[in-house]
Amino acid sequence: MDSTTMKATAHTNIALIKYWGKKNIELNLPTTSSLSLTLDKYYTTTSVSSAEIDSFVLNNQPADATRIHHFLNMLRKQLGDFSPLKVISENHVPTSAGLASSASAFAALTGVVVHELGMNLSNEELSRLARRGSGSASRSFFGNFAVWHKGIDDESSFAESLNASDMPIALVVAEVSHAEKKISSTEGMQRALTSPNYDDWLVKSANQLIDMQSAIQHADIDKVGSIAEDNALGMHALNLTASRQPFTYFTDQTQMILSLIQDMRHQGILAYATIDAGPNVKIITTKDEASTIVNILKNAMPTLAVEVAQSGPGISYD
Ligand code: DP6
Repeated sequence: MDSTTMKATAHTNIALIKYWGKKNIELNLPTTSSLSLTLDKYYTTTSVSSAEIDSFVLNNQPADATRIHHFLNMLRKQLGDFSPLKVISENHVPTSAGLASSASAFAALTGVVVHELGMNLSNEELSRLARRGSGSASRSFFGNFAVWHKGIDDESSFAESLNASDMPIALVVAEVSHAEKKISSTEGMQRALTSPNYDDWLVKSANQLIDMQSAIQHADIDKVGSIAEDNALGMHALNLTASRQPFTYFTDQTQMILSLIQDMRHQGILAYATIDAGPNVKIITTKDEASTIVNILKNAMPTLAVEVAQSGPGISYD
């Protein structure tokens, strides 16, 4: 691999139907299929160059390369050997605060390495590889809505675009905390698997996925939001009911925002919550109503950091 300055940019995504459990840890096969919206605001740009050993520079600082080294070794097995790499990433995602930065990070890394190797793989094939680095990364190759088919083996577990038509969906991101999350998603989902309600959640999630796909086809944002909220709260209920080390990512501020969202709905505002592995709340709404929601949040909680994101693009190279 020669030294070059080619870069891949991948955007992060928010799951509307969550991935929350692994059927096979080694291959990173999930227990459920999941569905996401790619976001315009948050992304990772990555380039690679030859080096003595695999190393990692994140936002101009040397960073721990352990996870990246394991991932690159997996790629070496799958794609053929290549020399050690220095991976240089710029992360425009609040790291580890519940917006999955690993999604955009592993998608961009997979994309740039495969390009630098001179291989021409489809986004679906790239998605299969990136899944091994972080499950949510499988969905970050595609713009707008993507579905990750859980599959039954390495070959059949990949994501693809839903090819949905544009709709005026927006996401209000209420950033409760910038801090590193205490329980990684990998650890959180292992605990959730021990909930007595896990099997029921699997059945419910499969039905919600079908309903979600139809809501997206009909561009019914109200329905998209209501299914997503139900799915997310179900996931967080698993954490609370885990038989091994039950836990929650919610803080008082998370709860406060959830109750504000209920008030908004009583006022006729389209607002539904989704929450990942952290305390931050993302509110699904329409482009028109986003600023009303921002104002309500800012009035009630003046110190809260709030941003509005919209549908974002798939992976790009320059
Ligand atoms: C709650 O993709 O970060 O955001 O595969 O272990 O890296 P690993 O997990 P990760 O989990 C994301 C969990 C989630 C839901 C989702 O994005 O589907």
